[in-house]
Order: sequence, then C-alpha cells, then structure tokens
Amino acid sequence: MIVITGATGNVGRPLVTTLTAAGERVTAVSRTATGSPHHRVADLADPGTLRPVLDGADALYVIVAGCGQDLDPQGILDTAKAGGVRHVVLQSSQLTGTRPDSSSHAPLRAFEEAVRGSGLDWTVLHPAGFASNAGLWAEQVRARRTVAAPFGDVGLPVVDPADIAAVAATVLRDRRRHAGRTYVLTGPEAITPREQARALGEAVGEPVRFEELSREAARAQLLHVMPAVVAEGTLSVLGEPSAQEREVSPDVERLLGRPAGSFAGWAARNAAIFR
Ligand SMILES: NC(=O)c1ccc[n+]([C@@H]2O[C@H](COP(=O)([O-])OP(=O)(O)OC[C@H]3O[C@@H](n4cnc5c(N)ncnc54)[C@H](OP(=O)(O)O)[C@@H]3O)[C@@H](O)[C@H]2O)c1
Repeated sequence: MIVITGATGNVGRPLVTTLTAAGERVTAVSRTATGSPHHRVADLADPGTLRPVLDGADALYVIVAGCGQDLDPQGILDTAKAGGVRHVVLQSSQLTGTRPDSSSHAPLRAFEEAVRGSGLDWTVLHPAGFASNAGLWAEQVRARRTVAAPFGDVGLPVVDPADIAAVAATVLRDRRRHAGRTYVLTGPEAITPREQARALGEAVGEPVRFEELSREAARAQLLHVMPAVVAEGTLSVLGEPSAQEREVSPDVERLLGRPAGSFAGWAARNAAIFR
C-alpha cells in the first residue's frame, strides 16, 4: 500500500487518481477530511497522527506544505519506519540543489538529508517552478484580462504538476529501479511571464495583457501567501535564475517516454479558472 501526503494539492490529487486507476492500493492523507473512501486525516506537524494511517504501508510519498517549516523530518521518518514503510519518495525542490545556501529552502534541504540518511530506500524529486503558480493570476485575468508580474522577460522551464504526478507514479510503481536517485523535473522549454500571459489569452479565447510589476510591488503581493524568507528566495529565482535553473532537464521525458507537457497545455486544461 502507498501512502501519499499532501494528497489534495496540485500534485497529490492527480497522483492519487493515477495510482488508483492503475490498481494500486492508496491512502490519501491531508489535514482536511474529504469524504473519499481512500482518504485519511493526519497532520505532518504531529507525526503521531500518521501512525494509524501507515498501517500496511510499504511506500510513502511525502509532500509538505511550503518549504516544510516547523516540521520534524526525523519524527516523520521514524514513524514511517515503525509503520513498516520501506521506501520514501520526497517531493522537494530544484532549489535545494541549485541554491545550497538559501535560507528559504533550508528546511526542505534538511528533510532531504534526513531522508537520505534514514536507512530506508529513497527517491528525491527536484521539481522546478510549477505551471500552476499562474493560478495566483486567476483573479486579475478574470477581472481585467491582465497578468501583473515582475521580470516579464526572464524565462524559466516551469513544470506541469500533472507531469510531477506522472513521474511520482512511475517511481512508486517501480521503486527498486529508482532507489537512491534524485530527478530534476522541468517543462519542455523556458517560458517568460509575458509569454505565459499570451498562452493564458489563447486558453481563455481573449487577449491577456502583460503588466510589468516592480520587485517591491511583487514582494508585497507574495507576502500575502508566503513567509518573507520564502518570498525573497522566490523573487531571486524569478529575477536572477542561474544557468542551471534556466536549463531544461531530460528527466521527465526519460522517465515517462514522452516529452514534458507545455505551459500552454496546462493553461488549456485549467482555462476555466481564468474565464
Ligand atoms: N509551487 C512551486 O513552484 C514549487 C516548486 C518546487 C517545489 N515545490 C514544493 O511542492 C510542495 C507543494 O506541492 P503542491 O503544490 O502539490 O501542494 P499544495 O497544492 O500546496 O497542497 C498542499 C497539500 O498538503 C496538505 N497539507 C498542508 N499542510 C499539511 C500538514 N501539516 N499535514 C498534512 N497535510 C498537509 C494540504 O491539505 P490540508 O491543508 O487539508 O492539510 C494539501 O493537500 C512544497 O513542498 C513546495 O516547496 C513547489
């Protein structure tokens, strides 16, 4: 049986659907009850609540909220081990590899170290920025057909969360083959915020204007949805990405046997939230 935390989010939801459709036994975990028969409530911040949901589990897919601030990775991994888990897959971030000194991603980096040193079999995923972050623009696109964002001409290879879920399902269904591996997951090409606005326009069937925001204005907006240290880290990647962060990784295509999905594909599937 496979236990998936963060199961109602961008990646967890399609991951649960894919694994269930493939005939795997799955327990979906988050803090809010959903009423689904596969779902159980537990809180990663209180590892004791995980113990009962791990009964019969041999694999655990870990998605933490934000950068995993205020979590006790060792407590979570000890609980997993005690529950019989043999393989843990951690959804981390590309930035733990490309920015080893960033304070914003220190908790995720510590989680990775705990996973690698846990004595369990492990696989770590390093996704780039998610295409679904464009959901933050949904209200302004609906109301004003405008995307206001900073760094309009800086391109990054954003990844479709559905591809992260597809990779996660592949890894979880063939665990032995992927033990001890770290995969970098990106989209098929770098795309700028200005180009994302154009793609959103095509998805909704009306032009969407791009409006360049200053770094300060963008910072003020981000502070509504993330802590200051994470907002700084995010702005630094969006504005001054390293060569590595601009690069397309071959891992999604290698693992799935098909090209990674484009931002336009994500926008077309999610057009309803922008109409
Ligand atoms: N967005 C990006 O660009 C990006 C890039 C690279 C890596 N990442 C990483 O990806 C992860 C987020 O993935 P996502 O976007 O798929 O998630 P998400 O959409 O933000 O959803 C978070 C999920 O975790 C659950 N959750 C939150 N706190 C929890 C807790 N204490 N215990 C149990 N469940 C909890 C939420 O449900 P409840 O609230 O009901 O519990 C929800 O199911 C983060 O670790 C982030 O650092 C994101």
